[in-house]
Amino acid sequence: MNGRTAPWSATVLTLFPEMFPGCLGHSLAGKALDDGLWSLEAVDIRDFARDRHATVDDTPFGGGPGMVMRADIVDAALRSLDTGPADSRPRIFLSPRGAPLTQRRAREMAAGPGAIVLCGRYEGVDQRAIEANGLEEMSIGDYVLSGGEPAAAVLIDACVRLLPGVVGDARSLAEESFERGLLEHPHYTRPQTWNGMTVPEVLLSGHHARVAEWRLAQAEEITRLRRPDLWARYAGQQPGKGV
Ligand code: ADE
Repeated sequence: MNGRTAPWSATVLTLFPEMFPGCLGHSLAGKALDDGLWSLEAVDIRDFARDRHATVDDTPFGGGPGMVMRADIVDAALRSLDTGPADSRPRIFLSPRGAPLTQRRAREMAAGPGAIVLCGRYEGVDQRAIEANGLEEMSIGDYVLSGGEPAAAVLIDACVRLLPGVVGDARSLAEESFERGLLEHPHYTRPQTWNGMTVPEVLLSGHHARVAEWRLAQAEEITRLRRPDLWARYAGQQPGKGV
């Protein structure tokens, strides 16, 4: 059984399989999992240890603190997957050294067959296992987690919500942050006055074109202030918007 029972399937290799599905078993992703829109298999790397202590790590050559996951154990776990040439899922190793995960990469992955995701613990994984298996190194941001598992949940969630049928109203995907290279505009709902604060007048006008214009202006302003990197790219593509 390779767990590939749905159109999009994730296989996570981890020392903590009980962490899955975790948050992926709730809300949108959890409902889609129950509905068979995607599938999830957690493989316990420790099952591939060969000694009676089920050792998966060792001290780093060259010295230094921490432990490194052994190449032979990680490689055996990867090779155990029932994947033939027909399995074209990207094979990803989550690490702070990887290329940053972007909405574009999530879109590409959601359009594909799924993902094989290796989660590291300790100081890292022996480089030879990464190279021998041609793993794509991916980071979810410039900070260090205690292991790849929360990053795997982030990556899988970002992909799953883009699968057809997972988000009820596909318009909410088209308008959200990053889809146009901008952060999203702010949102308001009832009560109309709360804590002495009112809702911007234009949103009550019923004038769709003016609402759209206001939202775009807000999205541009928020992006300019908070994310100069995104703003420079966006403004460079819009005539008349100086950086
Ligand atoms: N493992 C530890 N930190 C990580 C990060 N920032 N991204 C992906 N995997 C990680």
